[in-house]
Formats: sequence, structure tokens, C-alpha cells
Amino acid sequence: MASPSQTYVFHPEHHAHLIPYMAAIHASSLMIDRATTIGPFLPPLPSDRLLVWWKDRIAEHQAQTRIIILLLPPSGKSDQKPKGEDLRGIAMVELDQSQAGNFRGVIDLLIVGQKFRRQGGGRSLIQACEYESAKKGRSLLTAKTETDSASELAFRSCGYIEVGKIPNFSRTGVDAATKRGVTLFYKEILLQTQQSRTTADA
Ligand SMILES: CC(C)(COP(=O)(O)OP(=O)(O)OC[C@H]1O[C@@H](n2cnc3c(N)ncnc32)[C@H](O)[C@@H]1OP(=O)(O)O)[C@@H](O)C(=O)NCCC(=O)NCCS
Repeated sequence: MASPSQTYVFHPEHHAHLIPYMAAIHASSLMIDRATTIGPFLPPLPSDRLLVWWKDRIAEHQAQTRIIILLLPPSGKSDQKPKGEDLRGIAMVELDQSQAGNFRGVIDLLIVGQKFRRQGGGRSLIQACEYESAKKGRSLLTAKTETDSASELAFRSCGYIEVGKIPNFSRTGVDAATKRGVTLFYKEILLQTQQSRTTADA
């Protein structure tokens, strides 16, 4: 389904005031989804640390070692800044800085606010991650999702190839013993773009 929302690359001039809302959507997903693959935290939440963590991610985005994408309503007037409550989702790609891997990226965060799910926002965020990564010369993206989660289904439906599953990979915060498994994915994004171009040309 075509998303009623639009993706935007984080831009400090237009989006710096959204940082507390980015931390809030992250906190809400940690509390409600109890997702174990969205950053280093588990409930109960250290909200001050979460804000500091986000400021560090913004610094990485500014240093061009990370891409942050926001999901927002389509913009009306270009000079109008989005309101905090407009924020519908976030995705991030960490750009590998090693000489051997500087063509790779890791989608290490994908969240759509509960009210906006199943409207194509997750797919739009993943596609924006691919587009912006390709613009920075990245041809291979990887992702790690919780096994049997909506995010696993979302990556699969966007053409990500499963490499395998690791059981009991992350603590959940429920108790010391309970852990959840992860599923590992990859996608060669430039290859797929070239293949679809070749098919279109045929
Ligand atoms: C994963 C998540 C981002 C998906 O966002 P979304 O906006 O609902 O996703 P979309 O509407 O774009 O769905 C894309 C595809 O994913 C699959 N999908 C997503 N959620 C699904 C669900 N609950 N059940 C079944 N399929 C689902 C479908 O194939 C869907 O395509 P379709 O609607 O054409 O059938 C969202 O559920 C979320 O934020 N979850 C909590 C946070 C999390 O676990 N993040 C991942 C860790 S990095």
C-alpha cells in the first residue's frame, strides 16, 4: 500500500526540535513492543540516557557515518517545520567506515508509531534507507530483526534475504533468563536497482 506519510532525511535546521520526540517514539516502542533490537536499552527506561543516546546518533548523522530518516506527514509549505507530534516513525543506517566494508550499511533501527502501522510507513522507511545509502555509494545493506516479529515480515516483504536465525540472542528485561532470537538479513541494493532497470529496458 502507498504510504500516506513521507520520508525525510534528518536535517538539523528543520528537525532539531524533533529530537525529544524521536527519543519518545523510541521509548514508547521499547515499553509497548518490548522490542529487543532497537538500540541498547531495556525497560525500565533511563529517559535521560535515551536523549543523550539520540544526540550521539545525530552527531554521527552530522559526521556522515549514519543516515537518519524521519517519517512525517507530507509537507505542505516547504518553510513550515513539522510539529513534534507529527513524527510517525524513524529509521537509521549505520555506514561502515572500514576500508574493507565502506560499501556496506546496517539498518539498525526501524520504528513506526503504533497509530501509523500497516499503512506502508515501515516499507517507505526501508526504501528511503536504501535510496539514501545507495546515494552514498553503499551497495549492501544488512539488518537484524527479532524472530517472528512484524519487522521480520517487513524486511522480508522488502526483498531482504534471510541468512539465518540465532536463538536466545537478546535479553528482554522480563527476567534474567528470558531471551529472544534474531533473524539476520541482507540485500544487495544496487544489484536489485540494476536488475529492475534491465527488466524495464527489456
Ligand atoms: C516493523 C514496523 C516498523 C513495521 O512498520 P509498518 O509501518 O507497520 O510496516 P508497513 O505497513 O510498511 O508493512 C510493510 C510490510 O511488512 C509486513 N508487515 C508489517 N507489519 C506486519 C504485521 N503486524 N503482520 C503481518 N505483516 C506485517 C507486511 O508484509 C507489510 O506489507 P503489506 O502491508 O503490503 O502486507 C513496525 O511494526 C514497528 O515499528 N514495530 C516495532 C519496532 C520494531 O520492532 N522495530 C524493528 C527493530 S529494528
